[in-house]
Amino acid sequence: MRARPCSATPEAPDRVRGVIDLRSDTATRPSAGMRAAIAAAEVGDEQRREDPSVNALQERAAALLGQQAAVFLPTATMANQIALKLHSRPGDVLVADRFAHVVIYEYGGAAVHAGLMIEALDGREGRFTVEQLEAVTVPSTKAADQRATVLAVENTHNSSGGRCWPLDELEALTAAARARGLATHLDGARLLNAAVATGVAADRIGGLFDTVTLCLSKGLGCPLGALLAGPAETIERAWREKHLFGGAMRQAGIVAAAGLYAFDHHVDRLAEDHARARRLAEGWHAAGLPVDLDQVQTNFVQLDVGAMGLGRDDALASLRDAGVGLSSTIHPTVLRAVTHLDLGDDDVELAVELVPRALRVGVAA
Ligand SMILES: Cc1ncc(COP(=O)(O)O)c(C=O)c1O
Repeated sequence: MRARPCSATPEAPDRVRGVIDLRSDTATRPSAGMRAAIAAAEVGDEQRREDPSVNALQERAAALLGQQAAVFLPTATMANQIALKLHSRPGDVLVADRFAHVVIYEYGGAAVHAGLMIEALDGREGRFTVEQLEAVTVPSTKAADQRATVLAVENTHNSSGGRCWPLDELEALTAAARARGLATHLDGARLLNAAVATGVAADRIGGLFDTVTLCLSKGLGCPLGALLAGPAETIERAWREKHLFGGAMRQAGIVAAAGLYAFDHHVDRLAEDHARARRLAEGWHAAGLPVDLDQVQTNFVQLDVGAMGLGRDDALASLRDAGVGLSSTIHPTVLRAVTHLDLGDDDVELAVELVPRALRVGVAA
């Protein structure tokens, strides 16, 4: 299926219309089935906890993520920010990978909302070791010292190209964090991609952590929404933060119904997105583009155009002119392509052809 034209972005209002939109898995529009579920949703006042669709979604999400309870929120950023706040006091330290979403893409929210300082670890492929964690969480001899109180882990890891954590590493890391007195938060915005790719159930991964974020508006194809899951007492405290953040809604069942539909219809099919990402990567690699095939574990493909002597903005412009939307990453010359529900095999085959051609033109220019 050819991608429907994507909406305009602030960076590129006109040029991205009508392209094969590989910029992000947030590009999806609700499918006909999802729209029907939205139209039929039973709703109530969510703030009073009377919305049956929201309540049902929260229960399903808690079970899916291996936790007792969950709270529905508008975005994964809000879920992460609330979790960090629940696990810390102002002046405490957050330990996370240097390129974690909570460190680089949440507008300093950890400092703004929770008053956290950040101890950023130099991870490899989005992962770091127990030794790295222990090196920055040596117990202090002084009661008044600032303390590392929260560890955040991202799975899949966005900036490393959608890579997954092996389960045994997560088990060791969360045990070590707990031994040092840190609470553990999983930014599992794309946890279901990790679960599908590794064959490890999401509740096994999620259950290792004190709290878990899951995003509905990425691979799951919902228009918006996220969940924060954790122990019942923690989620009860999260409700207060939901109100404080302005995230307590009213007839939110309209959106929760999309989430319920996605849990039924859009989880197993993430394997199709992963297979399409692999096809893109292999096609581009075979055409001589600098793609690291080992990096492709889920629905992301990273392309280092610097290795072709191209600048990021020129490469993105050439690609848009050719009819393919990729996006930039935190790494200055690395672009990414992300597969999703609104792309079919024919889009992918076309992108396999168009991207090498467009970039070679870019090199020659
Ligand atoms: C790993 C990760 N966490 C959190 C978020 C935030 O999601 P939202 O846009 O719903 O706030 C994103 C968005 O891309 C992400 O990739």
